[in-house]
Amino acid sequence: MAQTSATASDELAIGLSSFGLVEEVAERARYEQDWSGDHVGRARAVARPRSTAEVQEVVRRCAAMHVPVIPQGGHTGLVGGGTPADSGREVVVSLERMNRIRGIDAAGFSMVAEAGCILAAVQDAARAHDLYFPLSLSAEGSCQIGGNIATNAGGINVLRYGMTRELVLGLEVVLPDGRLFEGLGGLRKDNTGYDLKQLFIGAEGTLGIVTAASLKLHPRPTQVETALLGLPSLTSAVELFAQARRDMGDLLSAFELMPRACIELALEVATDLHDPFDPAPVYILLEAATGGLIELRPILERFLERAVEAGHVLDGVVAASTAQARDFWRLREGLIEAQVRRGRHLRTDVSIPISVIPAFIERTEAALLASAPDCLPLAYGHLGDGNIHLNVVPPKGMVPERIDGFLQHCEAIVFAEIDRLGGSISAEHGIGTKKRAAFLARKPALQLDLMRRIKQALDPDDLMNPGRILEPAMPEGSS
Ligand code: FAD
Ligand code: LAC
Ligand code: ZN
Repeated sequence: MAQTSATASDELAIGLSSFGLVEEVAERARYEQDWSGDHVGRARAVARPRSTAEVQEVVRRCAAMHVPVIPQGGHTGLVGGGTPADSGREVVVSLERMNRIRGIDAAGFSMVAEAGCILAAVQDAARAHDLYFPLSLSAEGSCQIGGNIATNAGGINVLRYGMTRELVLGLEVVLPDGRLFEGLGGLRKDNTGYDLKQLFIGAEGTLGIVTAASLKLHPRPTQVETALLGLPSLTSAVELFAQARRDMGDLLSAFELMPRACIELALEVATDLHDPFDPAPVYILLEAATGGLIELRPILERFLERAVEAGHVLDGVVAASTAQARDFWRLREGLIEAQVRRGRHLRTDVSIPISVIPAFIERTEAALLASAPDCLPLAYGHLGDGNIHLNVVPPKGMVPERIDGFLQHCEAIVFAEIDRLGGSISAEHGIGTKKRAAFLARKPALQLDLMRRIKQALDPDDLMNPGRILEPAMPEGSS
């Protein structure tokens, strides 16, 4: 017989039993550990409401008993924001059963989706109406639109379409006291006072639970060109980006950097793929897309001719089919999986001005290697957004007890360089619990004061995702 959870005799859990409570301990593990496995906790209960009214009821019941609530989407966030703490005090509210597309307005280029819709399902629903929802990230088969909004997710199309914030027209949010913020109107222009929905975007679930969103859609690109290019250096990557912006304007939709070490790592997992041309020091995976009457291929070809003449590009392949384009993207995705296979590693998502990216990568990698010659630094990502993932795989054979300390040491090296350049320690993954100390140590006092006042105004009892982003009102570990 399956083991039932310790919540079976918990008064609150009994009160939540009609809200999709997860009863079995084994089944609960999925909600207590994130995608990376780096964050693991223990929940007092896991509720999975089916409607906005049910979310309100769960939040009200928890608030009445002074129990903290943790909103949870696909649990692919990388900073511990949606994982319950070890204390076993917090109730996880998973949005997974709120997964309906409420409606699509094709003429108005918009859609209303519930928070628990998987991102890929939102993209598919738009495509079914010959429209396009441009948010795209490797976790799109698991992450939810509510989680994307809560983290203001970025991904590969930001340089053309902006972060999630720019794709949100309106929101429905259950506030920490159970009241409903009804803002799904979806007007494109509305200058009546403060734009309150912006507060919930990127708030990582600390100000309320997003239950539905009105999303901005775009015309579906009917021509997509994907090229994998080999470059002589990081400096040429920055120069190529400037040229691509000038030559192709807004047709350019993705510009991803992968130095040679990243391609080699990706090929370890994508074993059916091969080097598409002679190895180059640096690779750019570039995409341009359009609909309408523009003819894209000649524009891309002219751009590439000019790039080769200028010496920015050594070699490259323009995908001849959607399958080949897919293979190029599999290298980018394989890179993430290959790092996971190497075990625990440092993940960062830093932001810096595009022009200093080469100096940032070179200096930081040199400092890391000086400190640990056998580690593997990997610097890749959304070059066109000034957003680099400077990750570090520990030396092979490092004893597990040393890994935490080693990763902290590497993070300090990366962040010191970011501070020197006036960058940000998070461009897209957010703060959660993992980056909280580093965030609090850097954010200007006035900005922290304003953030604490906003939190206090909406969540005076600190019951909505406490301890994420800001320090908790109640010390951690206390019950
Ligand atoms: P979760 O992990 O469940 O939650 C994330 C945070 O949002 C938590 O603080 C949680 O409490 C809160 N939250 C979740 N749902 C709600 C809700 N309905 N209301 C209020 N708060 C809520 N991120 C990028 O920005 N760009 C990338 O390119 C990218 N690539 C990734 C690739 C991989 C392979 C993986 C594993 C992750 C990647 N991420 C990326 C990080 C992650 O996918 C995003 O942060 C994503 O938006 C999280 O969505 P989720 O549904 O999984 O949220
Ligand atoms: C990426 C994620 C991890 O861009 O943000 O690969
Ligand atoms: Zn990223």
